[in-house]
Order: sequence, then structure tokens, then C-alpha cells
Amino acid sequence: MKDKSIESTNRRSFIKKGIGFSAATVASSLFVSKSVVADAYLENYADLDQWYSGEDYWKEIRKMFVLEKDSVYMNIGTTGSMPRSVLKEYSQNNKLVATTPWGNGGLSTVNNMAKSIASGFGAEEDEIVLSRNTTDGMCSIISGLNFKHGDVILTTHHEHNGGLSPLHVAVERCGAELVEVDMPVYTGKNKLKANDIIKAFRKALQSHSNVRLMVFSHIPYVSGVTLPAKELCDLAKKHNVPTLIDGAHTIGMMNLNFKDIDCDFYAGSGHKWQCGPGASGILYVRDNASRLKEYWSDREHVFWPVNSSSANSTTATIQSQLQGIGNDNIPAKQALTDSCFLWGEIGRQKIEDRVLELSSLCKEQLKEAFPDAYYFAPNDKDLLSGITTINPFNLDDIELLTILRDRLRDEFGFTIRTTSFRLYQSDTEQSHALRISTHLFHSKSDVIRLVQAMKQVYISM
Ligand SMILES: Cc1ncc(COP(=O)(O)O)c(C=O)c1O
Repeated sequence: MKDKSIESTNRRSFIKKGIGFSAATVASSLFVSKSVVADAYLENYADLDQWYSGEDYWKEIRKMFVLEKDSVYMNIGTTGSMPRSVLKEYSQNNKLVATTPWGNGGLSTVNNMAKSIASGFGAEEDEIVLSRNTTDGMCSIISGLNFKHGDVILTTHHEHNGGLSPLHVAVERCGAELVEVDMPVYTGKNKLKANDIIKAFRKALQSHSNVRLMVFSHIPYVSGVTLPAKELCDLAKKHNVPTLIDGAHTIGMMNLNFKDIDCDFYAGSGHKWQCGPGASGILYVRDNASRLKEYWSDREHVFWPVNSSSANSTTATIQSQLQGIGNDNIPAKQALTDSCFLWGEIGRQKIEDRVLELSSLCKEQLKEAFPDAYYFAPNDKDLLSGITTINPFNLDDIELLTILRDRLRDEFGFTIRTTSFRLYQSDTEQSHALRISTHLFHSKSDVIRLVQAMKQVYISM
């Protein structure tokens, strides 16, 4: 059988369509290091902001997605939606792999993809792993760290199971102690400032010796508050403690710069706000974990690549060990890469600003409609994210919230979700909230209509 090289399958053909967000303009391509989707974007949409401004601009962006037109999907926090052009390439690449399964690339192809998107996250080329999702990244790092009996791991009481699960393994398996920082919370009836959160972490760091790792969500899924990640990492560095951030919600929502945040590890999802395919994620390993080796200098081995097919290589970096995990889903990795390129072309800062603008509008409108409700994330620019959380009933009332959520979907076409969590660290009962995700494919009118629909359903209940 004749080998088909990547280059030989790299057939590109652009059909210039001028302004307008029709389907992707790429006829056929496969697994190239520079994204054909981004090329198509440049070909067709690069001057978009000269033609459109304000809401009209975002209306054009909305046309890049295949989301159903008669409903409004606002649960990106669970999973996103691939842009039309990414989806088209992904389908073509899947078909190509099915028709000619062998010779479509391997580890070096995926490594090149990872390299090509690194600068979009303020990372060096050898610091990014294209992972399966946030859970995968959290498990790879936590289960790989060489914890010993008595080590303290600091985390918060607002973490997701994707991080908590491997942390519990570390406790059971290695005898590490998990200490929850008492995260200050917002309820809509008090004030919360970034400094309150920093103080809580400082107190925890000062009151525990032998802290070996600090783990926190950049945006806890329960509240939607953006934590001051850079300041928290600064604090950890002062105590010689490495940091692992759960960034499930920031990748694709925020304009991230890992170098600036200066964490040691950052695990995020590609399938949520970045709108990549299912089971795609991004894992950042700072400088081959050099600082970890420095902070844990009392240990010969600090990290084991437990989920790798190249752990026995003495020359491989941690990034390449974690990237090499047997046969990969190359079309999915390409689709995530494509989506990242597209975000780069639109502008990651522009996307963040838009997401936060819609989120702020959502919080404003809700506050007007439901002045007495519980809110778990303040409308404060320092703490704002694309997630809005509200409970207009009693904190422990999941039944009414579920009815409200379902009626919003069935009667008005809005998909949002409920979350259940321990609001205060000492709580024994769960609190509940409705969680709304606003993204680049939403309009201000979507947000206003959602709040109106919520009010209408609420009054009728
Ligand atoms: C904060 C947080 N971490 C981790 C996860 C798990 O994400 P994934 O499905 O990408 O593993 C989620 C999912 O909602 C989350 O909200």
C-alpha cells in the first residue's frame, strides 16, 4: 500500500465568497499545521469590522454557528457548539480517516497543532498539550505528582469533580491531606471583592505547613465568579507552592496569558467556551515543570507521566510525554486547533469583552426583574465572567428551579441549567442556582428576552 503523507492530502481550495457568513469555503484539507479554517476566515471575513459594528457585527458572527435558530442555547458552561466551518472540516477529516485510516499523521502532527496555538494563550510552543478535556488534564497532573504521606493540598469548597476526583485519589493513595480554603461567597446581599478571596488563600497558606500544591478553579462552576488567578499564583510563589488551575470555563471565554498568570499547570476544556469538538481540551505545563522541581527539591522524582505512551523516554519533556498517549483522534485535535485559530482571527480580547458585556447586561436585567433573588457572582468587572447564577426562590429549593428551567426551554426555547453546591464551607445542605452562559453567538436581545421570559414564568408559578 502506498503511504499517503500529510502534505499529499493537504489539498486546499478556497472559494472566495466575499463578505457574508456562509459555510466554510474550504473544499478539502487534512491535518495541516496552519489552520485552513482560519485561512478561510481571513479570505472572507477579515474586513468584517470595517463593514459592521456593534450588534450588527455580532449578528454576522452568529451566522458562523449552526445552532438552531428557533431556540437560544445558553449552557456553554457544560459544552459549546462548533462553528460551521470547523464542523465542516471536522466531518471531512473524519470521513478521510474512515476511508483511508492509515497515514494521516501521528504524535508529531498533534505536537505541531499544539505548537501552532500556543501563542494564542501566551505560552511557549512546548508548553501546550492538546488533551481530552479539563478532567483529563487535572487527572494527568494530580495523579502524576509524587505526593507523600502528610503533604497538604490546598483547594476550595467550590471545586468540580473533574479536579476533586483525582485529589481524592491522592488522599487515599498517597496519604496527602486535602485542605479546603473557606472561599468567601457572594449572595447578592453582601459585598465581595477580589481581595477577600486573596486574603482567604493567604490565611490558608499561612496556617498550613508542607503545602505541596494549590488547586483552584479560575471560574468556579457553582458561582461564575472569576478568581484573581494571577494574584493567587503570586501568593503561592511566595510560599514556594506550585499551582494547578482548573480553567474549564476560561479557555475560549477569556483572553488568557499563561505566562502572565504564571501558574505551573492549567487544565481547561476545548469543547466548552472554545467551541471545539467533544472530548477536546488544553493543558498547560509551565517550562517543563521546572519550578515544581525547584519547590520540591527534597524529592528525587516530582512527577510521573502516568497516562503516556512515552514515559520511558529519558529525553522527552513532560509536555511531549503527556501528548503521546497512543493512537489519537487527529480530526478532533485538528478541529480544536481550527477553532483556536478562528478565535485568534476574531480576536480573543474582542470575544472576552463581548462575553463580559452580555454577562453584565444579564446581571443588570436580572437584578431589575428579581431585586430580591440570590446572585452568586457580582456584576463587578474584576470578578466578572460569562456565567450568571441566580436563585429567585429559597436557596434549597431545587424543585421550583427545575420547573422554571424546563418551562424556559419548553415554552420559550431557552436552554439554561441548574447547579447544586455547598454555598458556605460549613453547609451540610446543598444550595441551588440557575446557571446562564452568554457567549459570542448571543445578542443583547437574547439576554433581554431570556430575562423577560424568566419573569413571565416566575409570575405564573
Ligand atoms: C470547573 C469545572 N471543572 C471541570 C469540569 C469538567 O470539564 P470537562 O468535561 O471538560 O472535563 C467542569 C465541567 O463543567 C467544570 O465546570
